[in-house]
Amino acid sequence: MRVAEEWGACKQHFWLRGRRPERLVEFDEKIGMWNVFGYPEALTILNDPRTFSSDLTRLFAADDDGTMARLNDGNLLQMDGQDHRNLRRLVSHVFTPKVVADLEPRIAKITHELLDAVADRDEFDLVGDLAYPLPVIVIAELLGVPASDRDLFRQWVDQLFASKARFWEGDTDLGATAEAEGLGDLQAMLDYFGEHAAERRRQPREDLLSKLVHAEVDGERLTDNQVVNFANLLLVAGHITTTLLLGNAVLALDLHPDQAKAVRADRSKVPGVIEETVRILSPFPTVARSTTVDTEIGGQRVPADQMLMVWVGAANRDERQFADPDVFDPTRDPNPHLGFGRGVHFCLGAPLARLEGRVALDILLDRFPSLRTVPGNPPVFMPTPEMIGARTLPVRTT
Ligand code: HEM
Repeated sequence: MRVAEEWGACKQHFWLRGRRPERLVEFDEKIGMWNVFGYPEALTILNDPRTFSSDLTRLFAADDDGTMARLNDGNLLQMDGQDHRNLRRLVSHVFTPKVVADLEPRIAKITHELLDAVADRDEFDLVGDLAYPLPVIVIAELLGVPASDRDLFRQWVDQLFASKARFWEGDTDLGATAEAEGLGDLQAMLDYFGEHAAERRRQPREDLLSKLVHAEVDGERLTDNQVVNFANLLLVAGHITTTLLLGNAVLALDLHPDQAKAVRADRSKVPGVIEETVRILSPFPTVARSTTVDTEIGGQRVPADQMLMVWVGAANRDERQFADPDVFDPTRDPNPHLGFGRGVHFCLGAPLARLEGRVALDILLDRFPSLRTVPGNPPVFMPTPEMIGARTLPVRTT
């Protein structure tokens, strides 16, 4: 599936335009890090967390006054080894497949309510009216914070990514950037969860935050700081990505009317559409690592203490792994894409994202027999390379 030039608002996403990387592993002089675009190379990195650490703060430790260490305590994404295993075991104990599966009726109800609000319109914004609010409401309800605070969440997350966008433009002083800009909003978010967590310690409820605060596995408990950072990670990781997934699935079907017709006729194909969308339009196309020793990737020597960007979005179109990688084929089986990562950091929320995607897409297909994009009113795409998908996606219903 080749997509138009405007999809490449970010020059990094060359693969969306059907281009292959010139080199599978390359050093980006401007940003001072390595890009990895190939599938086997990405797999080697994700499956070897000793050589390829998730803890990037080690690279900036000299500039840190303790702030980064505090912010990353409880952030699974940035942890390695036994600390990561312990925390992941503890949170998996609370965020179980059953907790997720039980959400199905609630996800369906929220989807219907959101669509009721636009049912009499010829056009609506698939992102603003459904794909954004749905996962935010779900994750907020799951955590036990008011879903009505979602404008606040959006503001915080937007700020967080605005400061990251500057990094991609070459402002690589990560420590200073975090301190000077992102931290203000991040701190507001952390304070918010801190207050909610403290309240749950005093008075537990039937929500994830209460379970996290009281969780105990083999005598281990989460500290307040870990609960707050993990809740924060769930909120950020748990909504934007799923928003993009739903928008991308609708776009993929819009670009492929034959596939859309087939899936409308046979809804058992919906999970395949979701999976193939994560492969071909990976919402979260990059994961970061740092080398702990001198090593070699794809025949390139890479010294210790280097930062790596593993472009899983590009790896998902590597023809050495996927036949006809640019073809959107929801029947692809197996579909070993890396869109949810791989190995010890495999996405903890993948079952929830898949469930939300499946339920919402199914209901959309039920309620709108001819849902299409709007000629002359194209989608607006996310401006940061860390995300692939629409910020606004006008659709027409007739
Ligand atoms: C990890 C993608 C939805 C929570 C990851 C990773 C990827 C990813 C690629 C691996 C990062 C790495 O290896 O460094 C996605 C995509 C999603 C999605 C594409 C939606 C389409 C969610 C949801 C949640 C979530 C809904 C939570 C409710 C997490 C967490 C981790 C993670 C906690 C860290 C796991 C660890 O480090 O052990 N995700 N994610 N994600 N994701 Fe997701």
